[in-house]
Amino acid sequence: MPYTGPHQKALTTPYPGTKVERTPVPLTQIPWSAPAHQYNPTEHTNPLHMGPDRPQYAQSEIVKDVITSQELGGIKSFYATQFGGRELRPQNPIGRTGLSGRGTLGHWGGNPAVDALLIRQNPEDASIPEIFLIWRRADRTLALPGGMQEGDNLTEALKKEVTEEVGSEITKLLPEKSQTIVYRGYVDDPRNTDNAWMETTAFALFFNQEESRRMPTKLTPTDTHEVDAAKCGWFPLNSFLNPDISDGKRLPLFASHAQIVQRFKNLPSYQNWLRPPLVTTTCRIGNRKIGAFLHAIKKRRLSSPILSS
Ligand code: BGC
Repeated sequence: MPYTGPHQKALTTPYPGTKVERTPVPLTQIPWSAPAHQYNPTEHTNPLHMGPDRPQYAQSEIVKDVITSQELGGIKSFYATQFGGRELRPQNPIGRTGLSGRGTLGHWGGNPAVDALLIRQNPEDASIPEIFLIWRRADRTLALPGGMQEGDNLTEALKKEVTEEVGSEITKLLPEKSQTIVYRGYVDDPRNTDNAWMETTAFALFFNQEESRRMPTKLTPTDTHEVDAAKCGWFPLNSFLNPDISDGKRLPLFASHAQIVQRFKNLPSYQNWLRPPLVTTTCRIGNRKIGAFLHAIKKRRLSSPILSS
């Protein structure tokens, strides 16, 4: 399940939203275990995230205070964190990024996020599964709706992010939904540094055709500062499940979201959801076939021609 790397987007230079250039890292030198004696990463932490007036979500820039202080949140990660380099800072679990410090991230170590794979049956044609994607203004890419996890309750965090980025209409349906965790771990995010990185928990939620019809045709994100509502919407899921398409130039997704969506196709809960419910299947079988159908079950020779004929 964990991301195995090597990361690519975490090498993005200049660093997003700045003119800060990362020190180049050859692919072979990404793992900390690979010798890189000359490695001297650029140091960058958003100055607004330092000092006593920093926002509440940003930890102290003094890493040793954070490590020991519960009040400052400590270092969080799904990974066993190694400490190294200057000031014994937490080290990115995948390896070097060419930039030390925290960049624009608020926490040392893992910065937790939550993401939602909202999957529905097309309201006109139930055989077409669709996924809701948002358009991230700053990154100019499509992405899963999600955001930084504030607080410890994951379900609440998911609900908050979905409400902000998809609109409150869909959240009315959320309480009835069971959530399947598709992925937990490292995200290859352009904001990552040697000492601070994104991690996410991605949940899948399924909506049947009847629920899709109850949704308004246009969902309305409220967080329009980060999300361009006009470009958000339901997209055919299948084009994102095909790695050749989604990794290519046609449909790039933000950070590791393409890989997260692709993991999803093997999920038993998705496979079950795709399968038409048994009651519909049996109704389509004519009376004459029922005997043969039961006979086949008995003989464990149930095969699709019986069902489709
Ligand atoms: C985004 C999430 C994303 C995470 C890691 C957050 O800012 O809102 O969708 O998974 O960063 O890239």
